[in-house]
Amino acid sequence: MNNANLKKLLKGKKVVSVTCNQFGDTGKGKIVHLIASQWAKIIVRGTGGDNAGHTICCNGEEKVFHLLPSAMPYDKEGKINIIGSGVVFYPKACFDEIADLKKAGLSYNNLRIAYNAKLTLPTHPVLDRAKELSKEGRIGTTGKGITPTYVDFVARQGLIINDLFNKDVFVKKLRRHLEEKEYLLKRYDPSDLKKILNHSHLENGIYIGSGDKIFNEEAIIDRYLEYAKELRPMVADTDSFVRKNLKEGGILLEGAQGLLLSIDFGTYPFVTSSDCSIQGLAKGAGISATNIDLSLGIIKGFYATRVGEGALVDELGNKTSDTWCNGGGSREKEEKLYAHASINDSDEFLQGIAIRRKGREFGATTGRPRRVAWLDLPLLRYSLNYASKDVVLTKLDVLNELEVIKICVAYKYHGPKYYYGGEILNSDSILREAVMDDNVLRNCSPIYKEFPGWLCELKGDNFSDLPENLKNIVTFIQKDTGIFPRIISIGADRDETIIL
Ligand code: IMO
Ligand code: MG
Repeated sequence: MNNANLKKLLKGKKVVSVTCNQFGDTGKGKIVHLIASQWAKIIVRGTGGDNAGHTICCNGEEKVFHLLPSAMPYDKEGKINIIGSGVVFYPKACFDEIADLKKAGLSYNNLRIAYNAKLTLPTHPVLDRAKELSKEGRIGTTGKGITPTYVDFVARQGLIINDLFNKDVFVKKLRRHLEEKEYLLKRYDPSDLKKILNHSHLENGIYIGSGDKIFNEEAIIDRYLEYAKELRPMVADTDSFVRKNLKEGGILLEGAQGLLLSIDFGTYPFVTSSDCSIQGLAKGAGISATNIDLSLGIIKGFYATRVGEGALVDELGNKTSDTWCNGGGSREKEEKLYAHASINDSDEFLQGIAIRRKGREFGATTGRPRRVAWLDLPLLRYSLNYASKDVVLTKLDVLNELEVIKICVAYKYHGPKYYYGGEILNSDSILREAVMDDNVLRNCSPIYKEFPGWLCELKGDNFSDLPENLKNIVTFIQKDTGIFPRIISIGADRDETIIL
């Protein structure tokens, strides 16, 4: 990597953000880690919670961050990592990650947590998981209680971390909360709820109530007040801290999930419940998007993945892949059943499996196989309406052996007559930009343009070092969508990066 180029890219910047322009898992961890190592002083997560899985490669070793920012390894250098006010905060997830840090010999002296981050209670993962039990309306969530926590916030009945430090307030709010959740959960089979509550994510059953009570109120109070003691020294008004540091700069905002999973802009209802755009991220960090002077949006070069339900127009292997990935397929099963899958297989389902294997596209949070799709320009054109044109291309090395690279340039709609956004879609309508309606997306077929692959290992420090066939694809996307590639990642290691 050319450090001078990175310095040039970041020169004069005060606030930089890293978000994803696809469905998440595009390599935010690596890019945040890279920029934190060279430039940032303060690193802030502003959205989502422990549904995120951000992988970094540190001295040849892999580490995954969920709720904590990906720059924790720089804590020992005095860099400040912040869990901002827009985040949903499950104390157990935080302390599990802290325990991992300790095991790895890393510190967390400068970790700060927003006093007003939204508090996830044991009821939230239970509600999330119970809802996901029925096939009807299943989203394929991570089961971390993200939506129920945000729902309580929007319904003006949520708890925040600060409530934990005022026992009377906490107990009063918790009682009201439990009363409502007990009522809501009555419609589920008690044995299903017990199974959920016995899960390690819910501390192996310590919250199970007795008699007709689903939850044990005292157990929750005791546990959460214990957490409060440990949290106290880390909790602060991080919004105002970030704002105070705007002049000094060195603020790096770490996004979670991806624009197409945003509650406001994504493929609703198959989304998460935070706004994963730069606007949502800035707000959740306590500042305005106008404060950001370099906003980097990541896309995988040149493919995409999606975890969970929802349309994926260019999925390799279409329905077969969807059913496999969402119906209990796993890395182990794949290794046994499809060991023969090759990256140039004529069967796209097998080809997708080979790409998944090469890209290690298994959920860092849930272990699920990620559905693999070709790069989709209608989706990219759409996402660029809400993101900057400064783009990071990651994971290019994954496609080194691919002979033909397909890129979706438009959709052909083949469903029934359908009203969308004041217009009528008829069979054979062509869409250049994707629309965020599952009914439309499910009835679209991709129109592809094919490119010859580069068929070699990638190395070098400059764009000019890359093979012609790869550069041609970048130039094509650049001309078509107006993006400016700023960083190109050609391997998991921090040094395997080209800065333009
Ligand atoms: P990072 O930050 C990819 C997906 C889930 C599901 C939907 C809703 O690593 O990119 P939720 O648990 O949030 O209610 O699930 O969103 N999802 C992600 N997909 N990367 C993530 O995070 C994700 N976090 C949630 O699979 O489809
Ligand atoms: Mg991830």
